[in-house]
Amino acid sequence: MKFFIDTANIHEIKEAHELGILDGVTTNPSLMAKENITGYDAIRQHYIDICNIVDGDVSAEVIATDFAGMVKEGEELASLHQNIVVKVPMIKDGVKAIRYFTDHGIRTNCTLIFSPGQALLAAKAGATYVSPFLGRLDDISSDSLRLIDDIRIIYDNYGYDTQILAASIRHPMHIIECAKLGADVATCPLKPILQLLDHPLTDNGLEKFLADYAKGNK
Ligand code: G3P
Repeated sequence: MKFFIDTANIHEIKEAHELGILDGVTTNPSLMAKENITGYDAIRQHYIDICNIVDGDVSAEVIATDFAGMVKEGEELASLHQNIVVKVPMIKDGVKAIRYFTDHGIRTNCTLIFSPGQALLAAKAGATYVSPFLGRLDDISSDSLRLIDDIRIIYDNYGYDTQILAASIRHPMHIIECAKLGADVATCPLKPILQLLDHPLTDNGLEKFLADYAKGNK
């Protein structure tokens, strides 16, 4: 399973990259705003800065919601760096835009996926990735893992190449369950990635190893 980091925070991206486990980055307009990255030039420069840190796919989201606007913006974003993947919302014009980008060799990430039908449409339009949002489904008492399972079954039934990019991940068990279900990618904030490291028996075991070593090597 590939690991992407879901942030526009340069320090967190660098930390995950230095851990040696990072395959890519996803951003969205909310994550950019959280880092106070605003304005046409600053946003585009930020994408380039991220691409210069991580050698992997970097999702950059369009703001336009009409077909012509999404195509114009997506082509601009894709021209910034070869690793940019254009992130497009799951709306009618978005599906049309994904088909356009697919036909013109531009890779896409269809975002705001909450149902298997939406994932099927995105795959049919040729999306490189679909982003089902786990945490936001859990927030409304809907079974987010069932969605990942359903999409996996549908894509495998027909051999769709579209990769399942599990998003809106809130805790390490989301990552583990997605890995068990065969999601291709998990995009997460840094915290749940680092939480995968934690186990009290590891800490206790290491403490004892070091104490025993110290006893015999005074
Ligand atoms: O990748 C989508 C993600 O950023 C949404 O996460 O926590 O805002 O639901 P969240």
